[in-house]
Amino acid sequence: MTDWTFRGFEGAFDAHVREQLPWYELASDAAALIARHYIPKGGLVYDIGCSTGNVGRALAGVLEERQAQLIALDECPDMVRAYQAPGTAICADAATFDYQPFDVAILFLTLMFLPVSQRLKLLAHLRASLKPGGCIVVFDKSVTAPGYEGTVLARLTWHNKLQSGATPHDVAEKEMKLIGVQRPIDRREIDPAIEVFRFADFGGWIITPEINPCPSA
Ligand SMILES: C[S@@+](CC[C@H](N)C(=O)[O-])C[C@H]1O[C@@H](n2cnc3c(N)ncnc32)[C@H](O)[C@@H]1O
Repeated sequence: MTDWTFRGFEGAFDAHVREQLPWYELASDAAALIARHYIPKGGLVYDIGCSTGNVGRALAGVLEERQAQLIALDECPDMVRAYQAPGTAICADAATFDYQPFDVAILFLTLMFLPVSQRLKLLAHLRASLKPGGCIVVFDKSVTAPGYEGTVLARLTWHNKLQSGATPHDVAEKEMKLIGVQRPIDRREIDPAIEVFRFADFGGWIITPEINPCPSA
């Protein structure tokens, strides 16, 4: 069994995420609506792990209206070539990219593909570059609940994949390919954060900067 890779997967990606994650449309729309609350006129937005540009397309209206800039990053050159959305797509490793001070960063189903040590550093770096009034939006798979409820949630995830047309073989094969490549996040890695979305093992969170309303005090 070979490891899961995004290389050469750009043509199949958009249909695949919608089949594997039946709530994908709802969640990406929610991420864009959340971002809209924090994007100022002329602001800077990062889409980290942009793939083909689903998030960028969901943001198109607000980016144009507020003349905001979108920088979309992906480490997979095939995805960057296939990117079709507003802004500039750059082939870069999110863990080592030199972020400018920004208003909104969206990590939509991306963090879980970074090694734990790298994503902790990345989040610290992003928090340090986040402008007052902005936010970091994270949607990701999280470590499952303890005890029997963990089994219930995992089966709810698989049930939904099967309901939307994936075969049992596809579901099992992808799970095995993801071993060590996709590692669900622990809530403690992103705290302090506010949970805004939940479906079984998948969650969405908003991280905002610590605001000192009186910096000289
Ligand atoms: C599940 S996809 C993200 C989906 C995308 N945000 C969307 O909603 O259409 C994960 C993406 O993260 C990218 N990725 C994984 N590790 C990365 C890293 N270290 N730096 C940049 N991109 C990375 C992968 O190449 C892949 O395109």
